[in-house]
Amino acid sequence: ADAVDDALESLRAGEPVLVHDAADREGETDLIYHADYVTPEAVARLRNDAGGLVCVALGHEVAEAFDLPFYAEEVDHPATGDHELGYDERSSFSLTVNHRDTYTGITDDDRSTTIRALGEAATAPAETDFAAEFRVPGHVHLLKAAPDLLAQREGHTELGLALAEAADLPSAVVVCEMLDDETGAALSPADARAYANRHDFAYLEGSAVLERLG
Ligand code: 5RP
Ligand code: CA
Ligand code: ZN
Ligand code: ZN
Repeated sequence: ADAVDDALESLRAGEPVLVHDAADREGETDLIYHADYVTPEAVARLRNDAGGLVCVALGHEVAEAFDLPFYAEEVDHPATGDHELGYDERSSFSLTVNHRDTYTGITDDDRSTTIRALGEAATAPAETDFAAEFRVPGHVHLLKAAPDLLAQREGHTELGLALAEAADLPSAVVVCEMLDDETGAALSPADARAYANRHDFAYLEGSAVLERLG
């Protein structure tokens, strides 16, 4: 089994995987779990060990079934007009949400509730009454994948969801950037790999995912 197979096995087992996109893109490594398996302990690992923004990436069709737009297209504010990024054509940000069973929405318990419910909803999008189950805005950022996934965009949004799809899991993963506690910059690929080795987590280069699933 190669590194991609190991990562698919990890996702199915509820273990996190690390994915570095590319040196000429964000140059970030995200810690990724399948949404179905997220626990309060997993949320604690995301904020303590990763430290970036905790986001749930949804497949394009799932997001469409929930009527979730791209944020920049929906919000009529002058600052959304020129959506220029240094590393890609557009961001994948959609809305922010909390499950209605949460209180503030930010605690490990609350974010775990929201994230796992998103995973469950993604299993049966047509049977989900999104507005009855979730409130907007909230404390979990949603990301909406490109319709043709890696053929159209090579972000962590699409890399994570391509892995979920290949693992035969619903299209919902939670992602969070690994930041360096000393410098505040993106954790270097070498340090991200060392973290993965220390914890026996799978580490993948985006190029390996693209080669297998792109
Ligand atoms: C949201 C982000 C992350 O980089 C996340 O990985 C999603 O973005 P992308 O699909 O562009 O990599 O900026 O915190
Ligand atoms: Ca930390
Ligand atoms: Zn990213
Ligand atoms: Zn990022």
